[in-house]
Parts: sequence; C-alpha cells; structure tokens
Amino acid sequence: MNSTVSGPVRLAMVGGGQGAFIGAVHRAAARLDGAWQLVAGAFSRDPDNCRQTGAELGLDPARCYASWEDLLVGEARMAPDQRAECVAVVTPNHLHFPIARAALEAGFHVMSDKPATRTLEEAEQLSEIVSRGQCLYGLTHTYLGYPMVAEARNLVASGKLGTVRKVYVEYLQGWLSGAAEAQGSKQAKWRTDPARSGAGGAIGDIGTHAFTLAEWVSGQSVVSLAAQLNTFVEGRLVDDDAAALLRFDGGASGVLVSSQVCTGEENGLQIRVYGDRGGLHWKQMDPEVLLYRSADGQARILRAGVDQPLGQLALSRCRTPSGHPQGYIEAFANLYRDFAAAIRAGEQRTAQRVPGIGMGLRGMQFVDGMIDSHAGNGRWVNIQQEDKQ
Ligand SMILES: NC(=O)c1ccc[n+]([C@@H]2O[C@H](COP(=O)([O-])OP(=O)(O)OC[C@H]3O[C@@H](n4cnc5c(N)ncnc54)[C@H](O)[C@@H]3O)[C@@H](O)[C@H]2O)c1
Repeated sequence: MNSTVSGPVRLAMVGGGQGAFIGAVHRAAARLDGAWQLVAGAFSRDPDNCRQTGAELGLDPARCYASWEDLLVGEARMAPDQRAECVAVVTPNHLHFPIARAALEAGFHVMSDKPATRTLEEAEQLSEIVSRGQCLYGLTHTYLGYPMVAEARNLVASGKLGTVRKVYVEYLQGWLSGAAEAQGSKQAKWRTDPARSGAGGAIGDIGTHAFTLAEWVSGQSVVSLAAQLNTFVEGRLVDDDAAALLRFDGGASGVLVSSQVCTGEENGLQIRVYGDRGGLHWKQMDPEVLLYRSADGQARILRAGVDQPLGQLALSRCRTPSGHPQGYIEAFANLYRDFAAAIRAGEQRTAQRVPGIGMGLRGMQFVDGMIDSHAGNGRWVNIQQEDKQ
C-alpha cells in the first residue's frame, strides 16, 4: 500500500480500549506533533468498549471494527487517500505477532509495543517478513525516545567515557509484590499468564526495556549472559524478579536487574556506564538529567533543553528550553514523530532513530537466553547477535 506524500499519517489502533493503559499514551504521543491522525480502531474484543472508545475519540463508527481482522480488511477496501497507513499494536503480547504479520502482509506499516512477540521463533519470522517487505516496523521502546538517553549514547560514541568497561542497568517496580492478578488487575492477569505474556514475566515486560537500553547506550551487543530468575509470589507462573551478568562484544561486563516485586518502587529504570575516562548515570524518574563524571574527579550535570550544548539527536528530542520539564509522553512522541517522518520519506528502515525489528529480535533473544541460563543453573549462554535496526 503506497503512502500519500504529505499530511498526517493515518493511524489505526488495535487494543487501547477503555480501561487499558498504554493505548491512550500512544494516542497522546501520536497527537503531539500533528504528524498522525487516528482514523480507525479495533480497540477491544468487547464490541461495546470498542464503540464507546471510538465515540470518545470522535471516530466514524463504521471504522470502529469488531476485530483486528475486520479492521485490516475494512481499511484495505477504502480509497487510498482515506485508508489507514499504519497499524499501532497495543494489545497483550501474544497478539503482537499475528497482528503485525497480517498488517505488514496487507501493506500497512506497523508501530508495535514491546516485546515484539511472544516467542523467539515468532520474532525470527517477523524479522524475515519485515526485511523482505516494503513496510516499516517500529517498536516502542519508549525510553530510547528521551533526549538524555540519546545524549548518553552520544557521550559513549564520542569517546567521552573512553573504553567502556562496566554497564549497570536496572528496572525495578513494586506493583506485582502481591498477587495483583488474583485481585482484579487485568494488566497483571495477562502479564502473569505465559500463554499471553510469553515465557518471560518481568524479564519480558521490563527486562527487555533494560536490555535494549544497555545495548543502545553502550553501543555494544551482549554476547553472553548468566541469569538467575525468581518467582516470589506463590502460584505465579512466570518470573517476577531476575538478575543477570552480561558480557558485551566490545569487552564490557554488565549487570542487569529487572524486578516487579521491589515493594514501593514505581518505575525505577536506570543505567550507569563506566569507561576508563569517565562514567554516566541516567534515571528514568529524573529523565532530564544526565550525570557525567570524568576520571579527574569532575562531575557535570547535563540537562535536557533546546538551549543546552547537546548532540544532534538529543537536541532533536528536546522540545522546550531547560527547566520546562518534558517526560514520558514526549519521549513516546519523539518515536512517533520520527516514525512518521520515516514513512513520509519512504525510508526502508527506521535505522537508529526508532527501534525496529532488530531490537525486537534482540529482546526476544535476551528473554530466551535468560530462561535457558536459569534452567541450566545460571550457566553462561550465548545470545545470537543481529544487526540492530
Ligand atoms: N512501551 C511501554 O512503556 C509500555 C508500557 C506498558 C505496556 N506496554 C506494552 O503494551 C501492551 C499493552 O499493555 P497494557 O498495559 O496497555 O495492557 P492492557 O491490558 O491495559 O490493554 C490491552 C488492550 O488490548 C485489548 N485487547 C485484547 N485483546 C484484543 C483483541 N483481540 N483485539 C483488540 N483489542 C484487544 C484490551 O481490550 C485492552 O484494551 C503490552 O504488550 C505491554 O507490554 C508498553
């Protein structure tokens, strides 16, 4: 399906009905720069929810579909200058692959939430489909959209840290400390059901974010890992806590922790990287600040802002002068804006500005490797490397 050459990219959404979490964040992010227009949706399996969500959003009721299959058929039948051009996939994990595959094969671009798929085999298939097709695939590893994460990557790439030796990344949450899945949380319910979440619990849900961040900021790929997985909440079928030692292809050594049972923690993602000339520290809950320390004992606080001396990618992701806070929605919006630009430019790959299927595949190799290593009593396992897209 050809894109029109200008104007907002027409978006259809699968998932994100009333009561859902991330769909509304995608919609807010897509709206922020006027680069997208939501035209259709299959927001829920519940037809009333789907209709009501569409009505709230002012959509044509004829374009609020009873299923994602109907959406793809219905939109493909519309006039080329009307039909959706891209499908946002914001459902639980087990639906990411079938929806993305069908959408790509029907000629729609895809913006999917993470993890890319439920299994590694699906990610491998999806990678092939993306590479032989004409449509773009974006993956919303949100944290890569923050300006100061781009700056962290820039500091490493420009040699300010020297040779990178140590990468510490942790993602700590506390919301699954109790059996939320038995207490009516639908978000907890599917996340702890391996049929819908995949074999990984915390490692798939938030470990993939930490892993992707570590590879992107360090500019190195993890070649092997040794893992320990835990399930603290009784009866839970997936891990809710995990840690791993990492070895990187550039010689760095790393530590990754992802846990959803750290009681009291909110969204504690942070990364520290140390080289022989300096170190850096970025925290998601204080996202506008990047701490840089050099070997001579100096510490510098770098701040987000269009008026700050930052690298090109970081600056392109700042929207306001420093001191005018930007956060999660803006980081998400940066990915949406860059994805729309790539679609309009007719690009074949989203390269490094928007995470793509290469990072999705790496994420699933990470999940698979973590499970494999844990099953082998924490033995070191290799995880295959792919080109990052
Ligand atoms: N990038 C991020 O920071 C981030 C944050 C949270 C969640 N996520 C990811 O987003 C996805 C959704 O997570 P969530 O927390 O919003 O879940 P959720 O349970 O709140 O929402 C899922 C939505 O999908 C809908 N749905 C389920 N089956 C459907 C079907 N067959 N057809 C149409 N809609 C269907 C549900 O009705 C619901 O509206 C997950 O893959 C999750 O990993 C990403």
